Amino acid sequence: MSSFKKEVVSLLSETTEVPPEEIASRLEYPPDGSFGDLAFPCHLLSKRLKKPPQAIASELAERLSPRASIDRIAATGPYLNFFADPAILATEVVSSIISQREDFGFSDEGRGKTIVIDFSSPNIAKPFGVGHLRTTVLGNGLYHIFSKLGYKLVRVNHLGDWGTQFGKLITAFKLWGDEARLEKDPIGELFDLYVEFHRRAETDSSLEEKAREEFRKLEKGETETSEFWRRFKDLSLQDFDRIYRLLGIEFDSYAGESFYNPYIEKTIEALKSAGLTRVSEDALIVDLEKYGMPPCLLKKRDEATLYATRDIAAAIYRYETYKFHKNLYVVGSAQRLHFQQVFKVLELMGYPWSKDCHHIELGWIKFEKGAMSTRKGNIVFLEDVLSKSVELVKSIIEEKNPTLEDQDRVARQVGVGAVVFWDLSARRNKDINFSWEEALNFEGQTGPYLQYTHARLASVMRRYGEPLPPHPDLSLLSGAQEQKVIKLLSRFPEHLQRAAFDYEPYHLVSYLLELASAFNSFYQSQRILCEDLNLRSARVSLAEATRTVLKEGLRLLGMESPESM
Ligand code: ARG
Repeated sequence: MSSFKKEVVSLLSETTEVPPEEIASRLEYPPDGSFGDLAFPCHLLSKRLKKPPQAIASELAERLSPRASIDRIAATGPYLNFFADPAILATEVVSSIISQREDFGFSDEGRGKTIVIDFSSPNIAKPFGVGHLRTTVLGNGLYHIFSKLGYKLVRVNHLGDWGTQFGKLITAFKLWGDEARLEKDPIGELFDLYVEFHRRAETDSSLEEKAREEFRKLEKGETETSEFWRRFKDLSLQDFDRIYRLLGIEFDSYAGESFYNPYIEKTIEALKSAGLTRVSEDALIVDLEKYGMPPCLLKKRDEATLYATRDIAAAIYRYETYKFHKNLYVVGSAQRLHFQQVFKVLELMGYPWSKDCHHIELGWIKFEKGAMSTRKGNIVFLEDVLSKSVELVKSIIEEKNPTLEDQDRVARQVGVGAVVFWDLSARRNKDINFSWEEALNFEGQTGPYLQYTHARLASVMRRYGEPLPPHPDLSLLSGAQEQKVIKLLSRFPEHLQRAAFDYEPYHLVSYLLELASAFNSFYQSQRILCEDLNLRSARVSLAEATRTVLKEGLRLLGMESPESM
């Protein structure tokens, strides 16, 4: 919190006797600077003081006198508005960014606390489609944001590497598989087999039975079947790895569904001895009717274990292994009920930490033709989207900036960044429509626009060409546009906290766009490297502070910031 905000909080808390934390959470940033820099909505006090908020606002405006970093206090309707002292604010904000560099915004609220974050978690032997982009990119963003707030993160890729689909795949491969093609284009071959299986199964019901039999053999650990599975898994992982490298994403654990096989029996025993299970239509279930939910299926007739069983075992394992403060699942909203059931069962088992398990829901990526389905074979491969984007950037560079150094690297950074940013530029709960035009749009409020602003700042610093001035007079940064940038910079730490609190990197996205646009308006109307040496020192420091925050913000979103483009 800036010293200005602290001052406002303590002044208000002293006079109104409302606790400082509450004041801090109620203060608002007025949209238009002419209404001040912080506003306090006085209706919060109406009940207690038995007065209309307008009256309270004007009385407080009379009574309170500005002090320290508060320059002026005024009432506007029901709001009490506070104006920051521009010189104090500029000095404080710019110098702390310059001295803390990328650590600006770091906090230790998370010290000693571990967050397990389950994200990406694609399904083996299926192509990595655009549908998995959101969980991958959003999970990675949350990982960076929480790490910055001092938490220890454990990134888990809960691979979908177990389940009846492997029975289908093994059946299909045995019947129609092509060895040579599997070597050359493993995911292509496996994907085609999967689609083929579903196409034929529509008319040939014996196929499903064969698949169940293969999965049974797999669960029993029979060698031939297990070898097929192992091969499919290794080949898929190589494929996924390429995508993760392109995106610059890493995991701490690849413990997928199959990892929990040895824990399943123990989990089921625990559920049974807690008296939670019952047999219904030959399946073993936990009845959740009392809680308004359908039963949680633990085991099917044929003894095959299920997704939910493995998630229950996995949560227990995670608690025992990491003693998490929070256990997050970044997964599409289609699985809402699944997680509600799993968390309920954990609660019924008596685990107090079940309340720390959260499903971070995501909307769908929609396609013009309707939601896509792997079974029908209409899928957009993420790798295709990323490489098309990189190619497009390459051709733009060739046309507009042919002498740029390191073109391939820049094209990768910008091309991948564009897709990542596109994905993050809607609230996570909202569905987004996939269209090639939008994902690869580089104009307007996009990732490349932010990266371009960063490169522009980096170029100003190169032209300045000297070490930063040690003691610039930052009080000179009093112009309206400079002040706007400074105020935004001062709010970076708060936006991070909000993004973490709501599990919503989108807050950071819209903040960075606002910052870039404020800086660009300043840049277009004022010279940074101006004649007046004192002013030049101050402005260069502001430019460097902006560059630092922009670059750090992009890093948190999982994007790189080229020095020129
Ligand atoms: N593999 C699943 C899917 O692609 C997501 C797994 C999410 N994590 C979990 N623990 N269930 O839909």
